[in-house]
Amino acid sequence: MDDWSHCLTFGLSMAKQASQLVLAAFEQQKEVKCKSSAADLVTQSDMKVENLLKSAIANKYPDHRFCLIIFYLIILLSLWMSHESKSTFDPRFIGEESVGTGEDVELTDHPTWLIDPIDGTVNFVHRFPFVAISIAFCVNKQTEFGIVYSCVDDKVYHAQRGRGAFMNGQQLHVSGQQDVSKCVVVTEIGAERDDLALSTMTSNIFRLLKLPVHGLRALGTAAVDMCQVATGGADVYYHIGMHCWDIAASAIIVQEAGGIVIDTDGSEFDMMSRRVIAASSSVVANHIARVIRVFPCRRDDAKPSE
Ligand code: IPD
Repeated sequence: MDDWSHCLTFGLSMAKQASQLVLAAFEQQKEVKCKSSAADLVTQSDMKVENLLKSAIANKYPDHRFCLIIFYLIILLSLWMSHESKSTFDPRFIGEESVGTGEDVELTDHPTWLIDPIDGTVNFVHRFPFVAISIAFCVNKQTEFGIVYSCVDDKVYHAQRGRGAFMNGQQLHVSGQQDVSKCVVVTEIGAERDDLALSTMTSNIFRLLKLPVHGLRALGTAAVDMCQVATGGADVYYHIGMHCWDIAASAIIVQEAGGIVIDTDGSEFDMMSRRVIAASSSVVANHIARVIRVFPCRRDDAKPSE
């Protein structure tokens, strides 16, 4: 049985290499484009880092390519049988910027790398010093490991299923806090800016502050935000509207640090639902689930017709 440690080691070395690219561009002037909203940004560096990671992984793991060919044949056959056409499909990678240019999000049983080349692109554009490379690796739709490389402060968070969570080699443990009124809560407003999303998110903040909680924080990168729960520096993180590539890696990091990751409605965590609560204890996670309200978000893996 493959424990995927060789992929983790390779992922860690690639994240470090990609981090050099991010840091080299950090102080430079960037050409910025908007994607889904005026707050959803992309730069040349996002594309460069994603391409670097994808091509390095594809070169290193030709056996994943073998799986890919068989998978392509199955897909082509089913497309032929259903008389449908699809222009792009790459089941081995779910990368933020590839999806931004039209690729589907489909998590299959194949070894799949979920990549956010720069989590915190708004921070990157403004030189606000929290940006991360987030890499998760899933097999049979189960996350085997996650890596979050926080570039500016040179902190690498990682976890492998069943083997604990670490930051720069030091084992991580959640705070274990059970009392929501003693929690530091981390959240983000994110890129969804329609009236319903904004009013829901701001009223959630109001509701939490009235509980009360000790404090509310936002670093501008979902991946690093969530890792703060794994370190015990924060007690709970919630977010509505982020994407699977933002939180897939940090979810396993929180779980391996002893934390709880659930959907905002209290059900099982589903990385495609675009809703998450990551907490130091199930008591706190469920308390937050009861307090916050949600707004509708299109699932990451929704088909174009949905
Ligand atoms: C964003 C960041 C941000 C979160 C957004 C994400 P990106 O990711 O994680 O903190 O609020 O929802 O989309 O676009 O910088 O990779």
